[in-house]
Amino acid sequence: MTASPRKKGPFITLEGGEGSGKSTQIKLLSQWFEGLGIDHVCTREPGGAPGAEQIRNLVLTGDVDRWTPMTEVLLYTAARSDHVERVITPALDAGRWVLCDRFYDSSIAYQGAGRGVGVEKVRDLQKLVLGDLKPDLTLILDLPVQVGLGRAVSRETDKAAAEDRFERMDISLHETFRSVFLEIADQEPDRCVVLDAGQDVEVLQQTLRGVIAQKFGLAG
Ligand code: TYD
Repeated sequence: MTASPRKKGPFITLEGGEGSGKSTQIKLLSQWFEGLGIDHVCTREPGGAPGAEQIRNLVLTGDVDRWTPMTEVLLYTAARSDHVERVITPALDAGRWVLCDRFYDSSIAYQGAGRGVGVEKVRDLQKLVLGDLKPDLTLILDLPVQVGLGRAVSRETDKAAAEDRFERMDISLHETFRSVFLEIADQEPDRCVVLDAGQDVEVLQQTLRGVIAQKFGLAG
């Protein structure tokens, strides 16, 4: 008798603009999963694997125009390929849940639309590198740009102070990033859920838990 293949774990991504509170929400989701005994991995992009973290340092530091938009999307996608092959796919194959802070929708919004590489080109590149891998659920934390940037500037975080290349980009670019996330959500309603990131942290967390519980049949 052949054993049936182990069921793949769910793949959940969080997206949103600067200061939308993704990392706080991921920490709280992780605590919830721990309480439920769900074996999971929390990870982030750019980064999430040793080589990808080195690329992170290249893309997030330095002058705003350090990279051409095309070079930038290739760097993000190279980091993603490393991260997927070494961390995400092995975890999903082992049946673990994966919670990832940003994924390819960020490349579509930031490099495809914002930086002008072209949304279709960036989609094609993701397809080439990732094949059919896509998140089962994408939670988009939506917030007016000014509010998010204000939070990003004032927050006390343990992230390297120099990792702010994107925060320093023009505000109109941030408006573009935001509108592309909302368009993606419109185009893919089965995968994406938009949430108001201006809500109180705990209230937002309860909403996220409700969405996840419903999607994957968990007791909320
Ligand atoms: P990070 O410090 O992780 O900030 P945040 O809390 O906003 O996620 O910075 C990641 C930055 O990289 C963020 O400004 C978005 C940008 N980014 C892209 O431009 N393209 C991508 O594909 C990804 C994953 C991130």
